[in-house]
Amino acid sequence: MTIVYEQWQQQAKQLATLFGIEETHVVSTADSLVELVNTERAEQLVVLGPSTPLAEAVGFSEQCRVRRPTLGVVLLRQHLDVNVMTEAIRAGVREVVDANDPAAILAACARSQDLSRQLEAKPKLNGQTVPSARTPEDGPEPMGGQVITVFAAKGGVGKTTTAINLAVALADGGRHKVCLMDLDLAFGDVAILTQLSPERTIADAIPVADRIDETGLRSLLAPYRSGLDVLLAPVQPAAAEDIGRQLISDLIQLARDAFEYVVIDTASAFSEQMLAALDATHHYLLVTTPEIPSLKNTRVTLDMFDLLDYRKAARTLVLNRADSKVGLSSGDVEKIVRMPIVGSIPSSRDVPVAANAGVPLTVSSPSHPVSQAYKDLATRLFLNPNVADLQKRSRFGRGRG
Ligand SMILES: Nc1ncnc2c1ncn2[C@@H]1O[C@H](COP(=O)(O)OP(=O)(O)OP(=O)(O)O)[C@@H](O)[C@H]1O
Ligand SMILES: [Mg+2]
Repeated sequence: MTIVYEQWQQQAKQLATLFGIEETHVVSTADSLVELVNTERAEQLVVLGPSTPLAEAVGFSEQCRVRRPTLGVVLLRQHLDVNVMTEAIRAGVREVVDANDPAAILAACARSQDLSRQLEAKPKLNGQTVPSARTPEDGPEPMGGQVITVFAAKGGVGKTTTAINLAVALADGGRHKVCLMDLDLAFGDVAILTQLSPERTIADAIPVADRIDETGLRSLLAPYRSGLDVLLAPVQPAAAEDIGRQLISDLIQLARDAFEYVVIDTASAFSEQMLAALDATHHYLLVTTPEIPSLKNTRVTLDMFDLLDYRKAARTLVLNRADSKVGLSSGDVEKIVRMPIVGSIPSSRDVPVAANAGVPLTVSSPSHPVSQAYKDLATRLFLNPNVADLQKRSRFGRGRG
């Protein structure tokens, strides 16, 4: 069932019809909304209709975020306005949607319900309580290489570009041993962006999933540069379904035994497979761009990370296309996301040109501003950690995100 809060009768009727009359509870006062949310504990979605005053929507979502974190709030507006969106998203509203666009409303509600399902399912995947590989305070156990996962809940923000160029920068011409894992299992494109031939991929681990060892992992890796080996994603998207959570955890652990750094590229989803990778991660590199939809998704990701108990001090915000002139400054970005930007990557047409050529910029043009930005990030965060950055992150780690 969906809970719809809308004071205008005509609008309420239209929304109930859109969601299915039988599937919708409609309420028209704030008191009845709160009462319903308190009694219907299984409900996952509240749609605040366009007549909802913004202050009421903000207050309600702030309360929900604390008391019912798995409940999604979607806000409808007659006109979309950046200031309203920013304020609503900061309060914890999952999406702000044009009230006159039924397809967008249904899509936003479906996304919110998916996220709620993932949140509810997290402690009980496959009906069993999953023992976490990670202790929330300390992250994965310290022995072995560090796992750096590049993540964003939104597609196309630059995760793969970041993962590849960061891996090249970390390998530093062979001075460090790095394994890059393409865990965008259905649509991974590390192979085409590096021109590596996908003769062996993670899909070859499926038949030996219960007995894979370090030699097995090494046989699947494609050597790319001195110090850098790559585990490619399956060529056939369908193979992704057969790669289980345990196999992913095992491969990451084996890579940690053999490499100093394990850099993971991900799909933009909180799937069981991505959760396996995120659970085994020491450093979360959250990539975003200075656009409201991307920032909104980063905020949602951070809330999700809070619920999953992923350490705040382990999260780093990387702003890609940082210098795009799109009306949002770095300060605006930090205010919306409520987290400091630690890495900034400039926008450059040379990035897609490098992608088309199949040679990452850190390989073809090490002195390019984009390459320098990735080198700087690798150095400051990992190779030669800068005290100020660590302090910035640990200060953030002490407060609520
Ligand atoms: N700094 C940049 N300047 C210009 N273009 C960029 C930059 N970073 C990424 N791009 C381009 O944006 C597109 C998306 O980048 P990328 O594939 O790295 O994102 P992604 O988050 O991995 O996407 P997906 O979710 O589809 O896997 C690519 O065409 C890439 O070349
Ligand atoms: Mg990608």
